[in-house]
Amino acid sequence: MRIGLIGCGTVGSSLVALLRDEGDLLADRLGEPIEIARIAVRDPERPREGWIDRSLLTGSWREVVSDPAIELVVELMGDVPEAIDAIRSALAGGKSVVSANKAVLSRHLSELEELAGRAERDIFFEAAVAGGVPLIRALRVSLFGERLSRIVGIVNGTTNFILTRMQEDEVEFEEALSSARKLGYAEADPTSDLDGSDAAAKAAIMASLAFGRKVTAADVRRTGIEGVSAGDFLFAKRNGWTIKLLAVAEHFGAAPDSPLNVEVFPALVPSSHPLAGVRDSFNAVFVEGNAVGELMFFGPGAGGMPTASAVLGDVIEAAHNLRTATRARVVIQEQAHFLTADAILARFSISMEVLDEPGVLARVSEVFGGFGISIARMEQLEVEDGVARLVFLTHRTALDSLERASLELEKLDVVVRLHRSFRVFT
Ligand code: NAP
Ligand code: HSE
Repeated sequence: MRIGLIGCGTVGSSLVALLRDEGDLLADRLGEPIEIARIAVRDPERPREGWIDRSLLTGSWREVVSDPAIELVVELMGDVPEAIDAIRSALAGGKSVVSANKAVLSRHLSELEELAGRAERDIFFEAAVAGGVPLIRALRVSLFGERLSRIVGIVNGTTNFILTRMQEDEVEFEEALSSARKLGYAEADPTSDLDGSDAAAKAAIMASLAFGRKVTAADVRRTGIEGVSAGDFLFAKRNGWTIKLLAVAEHFGAAPDSPLNVEVFPALVPSSHPLAGVRDSFNAVFVEGNAVGELMFFGPGAGGMPTASAVLGDVIEAAHNLRTATRARVVIQEQAHFLTADAILARFSISMEVLDEPGVLARVSEVFGGFGISIARMEQLEVEDGVARLVFLTHRTALDSLERASLELEKLDVVVRLHRSFRVFT
C-alpha cells in the first residue's frame, strides 16, 4: 500500500518513525507493507530528522494528491488554507484520506464525509480530538447503537496544564502560562488554546459524531481561560471545587432532531469528580449513554508519538477498507438545532470588586433581582484599600440572564471591576 504524506512536522515525522520501526508488524497484520511514496512539506530544503528520506520530499502537495500510485493520503499540515483543498482533491481523485486537522474538520466535516461517500473512499480523523486517545472510533463505531445524552471533556492539553499549575502551585495565570511555554506545552502563539477555539473545534467534531447532526466550530459557544485568577482558585478550593476548561455537548430530548447545546467554558468541577483529577496536559472525555451508562476515556491528548499512533490506526483501517472494497458509514446527517441562551440553565459563580461602602450590596442585589437571578450564597474574599472582592453563587438560572446582568453590573459606579463568571458543573 503506497501512501502519500502532506506535512512532516511533529506528527508527520513521528508517523514516519513509527512506520519504520513497526513496518514488519504492520505488514504482517495488514498482509502487505505500507510504503511512504511521497512527502509534501512547505520547505523541502529545511533540515529534517535523520530518518526522513529526503528523496521523497516535494514542496507541492498537488504532486502527492495527483500521483496515481498513491492510494491513501495522510494530511498533517495544520490549519493552513491549502489543507482543505488538499483533502478535497485527494478524495475527488479517489484516494482515502486520514487527517488530524481539527480546525479543518470542525468546519467541513459533513462536506468531506459526503465527498468521501461519493468517491466510495474513507475520511478518518482519530487524531483530531484528544490526540492518542481512541475516542473518535469509539463514537463512530463502538457506541453507534447508543443514545448518547452528554459528552464532557477536557480536550485541550495546554489549558489543562496551565489550570493545573495555577491550582497546585497557587500562581497567577501569567506565571502558569510562562511555565507551559518553557516546558514546550504552549505554542509560540497559544491564542487558539487560551480562547477556547481549539477545544470548540474538538467539541464540534465530537458532537457531530455523537448525535449524527451537523455541528461546526461556529455553532459552539465558547469562553476561554483568560482572566482566570489565583483568587478564583482560592474560592473554588474553599468550596470543594477545582477549575477545568470543559468542552460539553448535550442532546436534550429523545427525538434525533431534538436540540443540542455545544459549549466550551471554564467550570467549577467538584474535586471528587474524575475530571478534577485529570492533571497537566492529559485529556479525558466522559461519555453518557442510555445503555452503557458512563464511560471515561483518558490519555495523552497531544505529542508527536501519541498522535501518530492514532493516525496509524486510521491508516490501517483505511488500507484494509481499500483492499476489501469496503468503507466506513457516513454518520452525519441533518443540520442540528441548538438551545438559545435563555434555555441554557446552570448555576454560576460571579465575582467582582466593589467599593466597601454601605448600600453597595443592595445595589448589586437589585441588578440580580431585576434579571430574575436568585443568589444562593455570597462570600467576601478580601478587602484592600476600601475595595472588597465578592463572589456570588447563583441558584439555577439562564445563561442569557447572567450575561445581561453582567453587562448591567459593569455599568454600576460601585463596581470597580467585574471578574469572570464560572459555570458550576454537575
Ligand atoms: P507542524 O509540526 O507545524 O507540521 C506541519 C507540517 O506541514 C510541516 O512539515 C510543514 O512543512 C507542512 N506544511 C505546512 N504548510 C504546507 C503546505 N502548504 N504544503 C505542504 N506542507 C505544508 O504540525 P503538527 O504539530 O505536526 O500538526 C499536524 C496536524 O496534527 C495539525 O492539524 C494539528 O492540529 C494536528 N495535531 C497535532 C497534535 C500535536 O501534538 N502536535 C496533536 C493532535 C493533532 P515544513 O516542515 O516545511 O514547515
Ligand atoms: N494545542 C492542542 C492542545 C494540541 O493543547 O491540546 C492537541 O490538539
